Amino acid sequence: GPVTALVPAAGRGVRLGADEPKAFVPIGGTPMLTLAVNGLVAAAVVDEIIVMVPAEHVDRTAALLPPDAPVRIVVGGAERTDSVRAGLAAAGDTAFFLVHDAARALTPPALIARVVDELRAGHPAVVPALPVVDTVKTVDSGGKVTGTPDRGALRAIQTPQGFAAGALHAAYADAGSATDDAGLVERLGVEVRTVAGDPLAFKITTPLDLRLAESLLTARPA
Ligand code: C5P
Repeated sequence: GPVTALVPAAGRGVRLGADEPKAFVPIGGTPMLTLAVNGLVAAAVVDEIIVMVPAEHVDRTAALLPPDAPVRIVVGGAERTDSVRAGLAAAGDTAFFLVHDAARALTPPALIARVVDELRAGHPAVVPALPVVDTVKTVDSGGKVTGTPDRGALRAIQTPQGFAAGALHAAYADAGSATDDAGLVERLGVEVRTVAGDPLAFKITTPLDLRLAESLLTARPA
């Protein structure tokens, strides 16, 4: 069955500190949104792409996307969850969804293909995962440490996250909020499988991330 990619690109990018929304900030001259969509097209496993952008940027977005790609542009929402919900509402019949942050602009196409492979193998929810390098602690509101989870059992989770269409629709039928889509799907009791993530799929969030992305793109063979 078909694969529909939802690309949340409606964030303001406050932590990046640029004067335009993050997805429109260029890396090596190319906006993050363009790079992210190009990656989805290059993976050659996606049938339709829906990008969610801030309302006032809808008009300029078409010119940033490959003209022959099956891309639609819709207005995102106040929170990432609202943006994904808007994309879901615009999607037609599909077998699988990928949800992929525009901010993960350098995601290798091979990672995107790996997620789709696992969906087609029958797993209803698939997320890319990497080992955590820092020790992670929980703290209370006063900053006091309340616990240290075993690092060996922790993973940093990336996108694209893949879902059987029914699972993602069901997850978003409830008004909930989570920092990733799998978080909503987990609450339904759906088993979420991890696949090997890729360091290049890092989320460009801070000015340091932007500099790293710039130098990686400059070094990347065309
Ligand atoms: O803010 P953060 O980096 O976690 O955002 C992850 C992705 O979600 C980004 O691509 C951002 O553009 C998108 N987003 C969105 N709508 C929002 C907030 C974030 O589409 N309201």
